[in-house]
Amino acid sequence: MVRLGVNVDHVATVREARKGIEPDPIGAAVLVELAGADGIVCHLREDRRHIKDRDLSLLRQIVRTHLNLKMAATDEMIKKAINVLPDMVTLVPERRQEITTEGGLDITTNYDYLEEVTSSLRANNIVVSFFIDPDIYQIKAAAKLGADYVELHTGSYANADDLNQVMDELERIKSMAAAAAKMGLGVSAGHGLNYQNVVDVAKIKQIEELNIGHSIISKAVLVGMDRAVREMIDLMKR
Ligand code: PXP
Repeated sequence: MVRLGVNVDHVATVREARKGIEPDPIGAAVLVELAGADGIVCHLREDRRHIKDRDLSLLRQIVRTHLNLKMAATDEMIKKAINVLPDMVTLVPERRQEITTEGGLDITTNYDYLEEVTSSLRANNIVVSFFIDPDIYQIKAAAKLGADYVELHTGSYANADDLNQVMDELERIKSMAAAAAKMGLGVSAGHGLNYQNVVDVAKIKQIEELNIGHSIISKAVLVGMDRAVREMIDLMKR
């Protein structure tokens, strides 16, 4: 069965709206694991807009399943990863102005540096994944430089707005997942997956893991609302 990695960044995004202490992504990670998820994902961004260094080091201590650190391939982040030792590092492109990770990493333009990064992470027993568009040239480059996994960017599929485009994007993900697996790469996928569009992607047999954040955190806010309001009303009655 396909594994689920839950991205807890947006719990920290809500905390940072007040620059306070709640909600804490660490508490969220414990609940995510208790609910049966297979892993916790977090993105330590250069600008620390949501997940902070404190969060990453506490997550490393409490995560019992599998900790997947998403990060940019920079010297600062490589040092951080080797210090914290997550189970997996997913290398993503990062632009300061973007709201979320907008496209896959272009491995071909920075090949030599990424090859070096991959070998130093792997030398520290960290599984290395590349977040890439479902594109054969990127997959070939990932295989050549010794990646363990590729995470196929599902954003174009998730954002497609007519049925033909949805089917085309799904076919692209299917064929690229098959191509990557054939080259010996592990395959995961993520970005923009939600309760409406996940089923067809979860059926793709080469995909071992899906990483989902925004839709799960959004759902949690709504399904938890009834209880949160009732608890406040009960307190006010005392
Ligand atoms: N995988 C990667 C590499 C990502 O950058 C993101 C977005 O932070 C996700 C998965 C999860 O995307 P979403 O929050 O849209 O589910």
